[in-house]
Amino acid sequence: MTIAAKDIQKALLPEKAVLSFRKKKIELDVYQGTQKELAIDITKLRAKTGMITLDPGYGNTGSAMSDITFVNGEKGILKFRGYRVEELAEHSRFVEVAYLILFGKLPNRDEYQKFSHLLEEHTALHSSLEHHFNGFPDNAPPMAILSAMLNATACYHPELLDTELDAQNFLTASTKILSKVRTIAAMSYRRSNGFPIIYPNHQLKYCANFLHMMFSQPYREYEVDPVVERALNIFFLVHADHEQNCSASTVRMVSSSRANLFSSVAAGVCALWGPLHGGANTEVIKMLQSIYKEKKSADAIITMAKDKKSKFRLMGFGHRVYKNFDPRARILKKQVDEVYKILKISDPLLDIAKSLEEKALQDEYFIERKLYPNVDFYSGLLLRAIGIPLNMFTVMFAIGRCPGWMAHWKELLDHNQRIVRPRQIYMGVVERKFIPIEERE
Ligand code: CMC
Repeated sequence: MTIAAKDIQKALLPEKAVLSFRKKKIELDVYQGTQKELAIDITKLRAKTGMITLDPGYGNTGSAMSDITFVNGEKGILKFRGYRVEELAEHSRFVEVAYLILFGKLPNRDEYQKFSHLLEEHTALHSSLEHHFNGFPDNAPPMAILSAMLNATACYHPELLDTELDAQNFLTASTKILSKVRTIAAMSYRRSNGFPIIYPNHQLKYCANFLHMMFSQPYREYEVDPVVERALNIFFLVHADHEQNCSASTVRMVSSSRANLFSSVAAGVCALWGPLHGGANTEVIKMLQSIYKEKKSADAIITMAKDKKSKFRLMGFGHRVYKNFDPRARILKKQVDEVYKILKISDPLLDIAKSLEEKALQDEYFIERKLYPNVDFYSGLLLRAIGIPLNMFTVMFAIGRCPGWMAHWKELLDHNQRIVRPRQIYMGVVERKFIPIEERE
């Protein structure tokens, strides 16, 4: 899907924004999105004034016009292609939402079957790729393996490395990636545990097949519990996209150089790895474990999170955009409660999480800064309940986020966006004279 020129024209308002500086006044165009957000167009600012804007962290920078995902952080609203995430989580499955995000519409029965069939067909890795796993040490972080293996997979599909993929080739490339990330993830887990590789079972649907590759043994088939399968579907689904977040922006930046889909997604995996982004789901559980082990009180943790001298942050809390409840956190919290009840799990970490949440939501520091639980606060507890090991949590996020990354790659190229190349305010030394090494102090 591309945003039509007529829609961009429609978004351009008749009013102008006026900027004045040192007796000079200029008018700037203003755009209004379909959800009434306003943006000042500064693309001509430097040409007209010699000035640039300064916005480290891009908190006020609109980097794209996009029709994939809408987030209203003040109201806690998240929509994929116009559908509320709560409605999709209730009625849909990850594969269907992946199609929606990639192609802009919910699939009809035929489209869904064809898409699912392609996902099945592409599950296996080229047999030579299996040897690559032996090149990693046993304790290699699965996120490192995933990004490396995505680039390695690209080597086996030279026909898909073009950025001018037609509809058929984009369908092939995106289903290959979406299918194979799951296989790579499961293989990296098995490899690091010394378990034999389990090949995909084509009778199983997307999530069930992943669980099979993770947990079956050659002598014992893993029985997929529908409660676990549903929970995994919801986990992947709520992560499917989140507009211009750090990893999607990374994918867009990389693809703006006209890099191929595989390497752009691999770059997204690397960006996601960090503890302030996708890595937070692992950090939340580590934080809860340390509270449990060291018998710390919720109050002590909240005090530490507020202490500006300490680098500690309450992991799973706060968000650049959400200044209200993250709707994904609400969905996952509900799933956690359901899964723990149905599977009759009792986990002290869940009790700790709930008491931390309760305290934080009543604390002036968190209220003032509008810090609420984000998607990562409950997601790890859900993964833990369905048997996913801690070092795989961020990989699980990556599998879920693949549709979003690929849709952003396609959108940027469809819009023929210029290469991303921000400017800076240089604050360094103005000029130095070269001194030969013998004369330097
Ligand atoms: N614990 C304690 N204080 C916090 C926290 C937190 N989790 N988050 C923000 N603050 C404070 C921060 O210290 C600052 O205080 P002050 O105004 O006194 O300097 C204020 O709130 C604003 O924070 P910020 O760092 O300017 O906000 P940001 O938009 O740059 O960062 C964030 C957003 C998500 C990185 C941050 O809230 C954070 O580090 N949270 C913990 C890590 C986490 O849970 N990350 C997952 C994010 S959601 C999913 C994803 O993106 O993958």
